[in-house]
Amino acid sequence: MTLYLTQDEVKEVLDMKSTFEAVEGGFREMGNENIEMPPRVYLHFEKGVLIAMPAYMPGLDAAGTKIVTVHPGNKKDHGLPAVIARIILNSPENGVPLAIMDGTYITALRTGAAGATGIKYLSREDSEVVGVCGTGVQGKSQVMGLMEVRPNVKKVKVFDIIPAAMEAFAKEMSEMFPGPEFVTAASAQEAAEGSDIVITCTPSPKAFIDGAWLKKGCHVSAIGADTGAKRELMTSVITKCNKRVVDFIPQAFVVGDFKVPKEEGVITEDDIYAEMGEIVAGKKAGRESPDEITMFKATGLAIQDVGTASKVYELAKAKGVGITLA
Ligand SMILES: NC(=O)c1ccc[n+]([C@@H]2O[C@H](COP(=O)([O-])OP(=O)(O)OC[C@H]3O[C@@H](n4cnc5c(N)ncnc54)[C@H](O)[C@@H]3O)[C@@H](O)[C@H]2O)c1
Repeated sequence: MTLYLTQDEVKEVLDMKSTFEAVEGGFREMGNENIEMPPRVYLHFEKGVLIAMPAYMPGLDAAGTKIVTVHPGNKKDHGLPAVIARIILNSPENGVPLAIMDGTYITALRTGAAGATGIKYLSREDSEVVGVCGTGVQGKSQVMGLMEVRPNVKKVKVFDIIPAAMEAFAKEMSEMFPGPEFVTAASAQEAAEGSDIVITCTPSPKAFIDGAWLKKGCHVSAIGADTGAKRELMTSVITKCNKRVVDFIPQAFVVGDFKVPKEEGVITEDDIYAEMGEIVAGKKAGRESPDEITMFKATGLAIQDVGTASKVYELAKAKGVGITLA
């Protein structure tokens, strides 16, 4: 009655195209105020944290909860990943748990799709040069999302504080996407300067992108800072942007990129142009001129997990993937 899917089985059925459709669809539902998404619930352990993220989207007939734990010492202490996630999908009709599936790969891909939604609606369609800072799991997902919506970009400059990581990343991405040229950058500044799209996806505690480096017409996709202790964008980026778009206003002001400028008295909630859902739903315009500088700050939403998991459930059933639990 309940379909169980391992991470390998999720990977077998899910690609970026399907993930993007699910995430963009979720933003549309949110913009149309047709979702239920209570605040996340936290349990604090001695060595980590458990976060429960429920969501219901009546328009997509999708409901469920992601349960994710973050134990930074796991690798050293137990040989386990620091982040472990499962998603439980429930039938809105009768409550039956339709599926239990790995949520780690879904989290990675849905975040790439969230960044891609910002790129689709806010970056220039003729964007050619992209700078990516951070070449870990999110670096890859963000490039996959980028290539879904801007397949004709010509050059991607990648930067990471670990040189070997960025070199391996540039090679892997060149093999995965033969179109653009992937090159390593000597610094975050070199990655950002002259780029039409700047993507940041690091766990940095200290802001490292300066507004002075952003060219006219550029779009900033800020992904990495998802807690108050992380920050990628200097206040100068926030003030230089003509349009500041976030996924969810209450969450945006908790993370470093907006929390610090707010504490400095530089911005308030009134300086946010829109939530992404309002743009996807057509209630507010996305990019309106080639010169404006835009930014999208993604913090991560339960509707993205549940929407993507619902897509995985459909695809897995159609392909006969997974095992059914009694
Ligand atoms: N917004 C969201 O919805 C969302 C979702 C998932 C993950 N995240 C966040 O994204 C960040 C990255 O996650 P990940 O899974 O890719 O981590 P990861 O550990 O796989 O990769 C992070 C990479 O960033 C590099 N890095 C660290 N500081 C840097 C700096 N100042 N400049 C350049 N590179 C730097 C590291 O060397 C590493 O290669 C984390 O903070 C994570 O919590 C956000």
